[in-house]
Amino acid sequence: MDGNGRWAKKRGLPRAVGHQRGVEAVRRLVRALEPMELDCLTLYAFSSENWKRSEDEVDDLMNLMRRFIKSDLPEFIENGVKLKIIGDWRALAPDIVAMLEDALEQTAGGRQSLAVALNYGAQDEIARAASAAAREAGGDGTISPEAIERHLDTHDLPQLDLLIRTSGEIRLSNFLLWQAAYAEMLFVDTLWPDFKPEHLSQALDDFARRERRYGGR
Ligand code: FPP
Repeated sequence: MDGNGRWAKKRGLPRAVGHQRGVEAVRRLVRALEPMELDCLTLYAFSSENWKRSEDEVDDLMNLMRRFIKSDLPEFIENGVKLKIIGDWRALAPDIVAMLEDALEQTAGGRQSLAVALNYGAQDEIARAASAAAREAGGDGTISPEAIERHLDTHDLPQLDLLIRTSGEIRLSNFLLWQAAYAEMLFVDTLWPDFKPEHLSQALDDFARRERRYGGR
């Protein structure tokens, strides 16, 4: 969800306002899940590297998370949105962990998934999955890709089909590295707070026109 800071800077506003507008963009997209018939939307909300930001900004982001869960949980339940969290989220503040556990439980019956990456880094996820697979490995220590996949944080989410990065950056920044092996990628200049369901719909049209061969011909 890149570009909140630049969105605010362009308007002479504090970065915190950019993040607030970023949450509004999230809300608009979650409401569009059903009409767009999406099985899963995964958002990169807080990376394991984001702790390097100022204490004020980290606090702002955590408070936005608290407020978002509190205000939007009833709507998730009503609209069948199933919350999923990926990353090392149990290392977050205990009150956030408790709120998230409650939200996961209350939305478990939902039909469409909203996966939020929190304290997430793909290399860390792969290392954790490989360690778990190694503990299960037989005598010769062989680990198959399937064994790693079974232990990824995304093991119960659908395959990643389309990865969109906003704000003109053209890199993956440690997001879903394993899952992106055959994903289509789309890099757009739109700053995250300006990203609307129309942009997602356009991205899905673009995706539908791509030919996917998975290494075959
Ligand atoms: C990237 O923009 C955005 C983030 C690091 C934080 C995104 C998090 C939220 C919008 C808050 C909570 C999330 C949910 C799901 C409620 P940036 O600050 O790197 O922007 P810049 O690249 O323009 O500086």
